[in-house]
Amino acid sequence: MELKCLPRWWAAILLIAALAGCTRDRTPLHAQQTEASPQAPLDPFVQNSLLARGVNLGNALEAPNEGDWGVVLEEGYFQLIKEAGFTAVRIPIRWSAHASSKAPYLIDRTFLKRVDWAVGQALQHGLAVVINMHHYEEMMSEPAEHRERFLALWRQIAEHYRSSPPELFFELLNEPCDKLTPELWNSILAEAVNVVRESNPYRILIIGPGNWNSLDALPLLRLPENERGIIVTFHYYNPFQFTHQGAEWVQGSQAWLGTTWTGTPQQQSAIQLDFMRAKLWAEQQNRPLFVGEFGAYSKADMASRARWTEFVARTAEGNGMSWCYWEFCAGFGVYDRSSNDWHYPLLRALIP
Ligand code: BGC
Repeated sequence: MELKCLPRWWAAILLIAALAGCTRDRTPLHAQQTEASPQAPLDPFVQNSLLARGVNLGNALEAPNEGDWGVVLEEGYFQLIKEAGFTAVRIPIRWSAHASSKAPYLIDRTFLKRVDWAVGQALQHGLAVVINMHHYEEMMSEPAEHRERFLALWRQIAEHYRSSPPELFFELLNEPCDKLTPELWNSILAEAVNVVRESNPYRILIIGPGNWNSLDALPLLRLPENERGIIVTFHYYNPFQFTHQGAEWVQGSQAWLGTTWTGTPQQQSAIQLDFMRAKLWAEQQNRPLFVGEFGAYSKADMASRARWTEFVARTAEGNGMSWCYWEFCAGFGVYDRSSNDWHYPLLRALIP
């Protein structure tokens, strides 16, 4: 379309729009976000209800590079997830593989733009979105050496998303473990909360306990008492021999192949007791709970997976917790990329 064929005023509008586009590209990334950031303290229990029923977009941005583990996020995924009835997505992100190893530990801009795209897609589709720090393995093996870098990464991420709406949640660290003991994690998380609060006074943060976010470690978690803008998370994979049978990354798990979950009274009450313990802890602390990961690997039989998934999801809901299934379309997937369709037994277990 040539400008000379258009009325002069119409050409002027096009020119202004084009210039606006150029200007926009030169502004800092965070200025592109909507100016809708939380302006006053938010009720973490109310915010937790936005997370209600979520799914993890796993094996994409937390792989060393997106695609290395077979998943590249697509616009259509967000649409499918929304239409299926989920309310939220959790996006695991390996920031540590996309930032300088030297101070000031700058995050790669191209990677940041990719995360912007994913966050934007989720929000545009009406999904709440959790971004976390996933697979920061050096934090687990050398926490003292990586403490400063961990905080510097959060300073950048928080600053970058400071203007995003309250439907964006920051989760400080996936599954602290190994040398990052629950005690050490307590002191580092308090520093990270302060760092994020420099730019995001009211955004809701998600924080889980040590020992791989195990519910057994909840009593060891110490959160800054006056900081109420927090949702506590834990991950649930019990019985582990069932959920992780045949998992290539778990030593000895081949021997568990064939383990079923039929929902016997004993099997059910074990799960109910676990959730009751978590709930009691949360009530004492007056904190809302988010089951940030739960799922059974595809080496288990589908009937057992669907029964277990349904039981865990309903038990979480019955105890007032939000949840996020692990995960969308890889080894635990509720969606099958090869047939471009849902695994309906799992989808119906999650969203009845
Ligand atoms: C890990 C995944 C793993 C899953 C279940 C997640 O936190 O990041 O790699 O598949 O837990 O074990």
